[in-house]
Amino acid sequence: MTEATASTAVDPYARFKKEAGEYAVRFVESGMVVGLGTGSTAIHAVRRIGALLRSGELRDIVGIATSSGTLKEAIALGIPLLADDLPREIDITIDGADEVDPAFNVIKGGGGALLREKIVAQASRRLVIVVDERKLSPQLGVAWPVPIEVMHYGYLSQARYLASLGGQVNLRLGADSSPYVTDNGNWIVDCNFGPIEDPATLARQLEARAGIVEHGLFLDMATDLVVAGVDGIRYSPRP
Ligand code: A5P
Repeated sequence: MTEATASTAVDPYARFKKEAGEYAVRFVESGMVVGLGTGSTAIHAVRRIGALLRSGELRDIVGIATSSGTLKEAIALGIPLLADDLPREIDITIDGADEVDPAFNVIKGGGGALLREKIVAQASRRLVIVVDERKLSPQLGVAWPVPIEVMHYGYLSQARYLASLGGQVNLRLGADSSPYVTDNGNWIVDCNFGPIEDPATLARQLEARAGIVEHGLFLDMATDLVVAGVDGIRYSPRP
């Protein structure tokens, strides 16, 4: 038994993540530019794309990685990659999420890659979100704080601003208990707003503040959702 099969055998959610990630690759066609998401679900899509390229079932794919972690994996898999500058629109991106509401608005950034993920999502014609069923939520903010990428310059001012919006502010720490540093050299604040009544207004308030580089509210971006759970895999286009 390989390490991967062992983990999916003991943890059903590890299996659901794999099923959701791999399922979404059916939407990838030869010749496409593909955004490669970040996290323990999206990585299965990346690996599947690598396998289909090796077997010749997919050809002429060019990937764009959403994090240094995914970049490393894609290089190891031999997936041809674009440089950071996007020469043309991305045909499809497959990425994970932390929380998904019924309108397919999502919170992302649990893995700290939200800025690059959003750059890639906004440049994509199609954004397929892949999750296990625990990520489904009646309302954003019920189960997950909003990750917010901030510059460290002026951090305390941003923390006060976020608190004034009703957020409970937690600076994300790394394994050594110093602030977690993103691929872009910034910090992440996990800001708990509780159930978010009006995500669009909150997004605008966050975007209005200098020093807040990006936030993990991905609103009106996901075009497709793949959910894997005890009853199997469910696919839905955006309602
Ligand atoms: C990375 O920054 C995130 O947006 C991930 O895509 C998200 O946290 C989901 O990750 P998992 O698939 O590992 O739960």
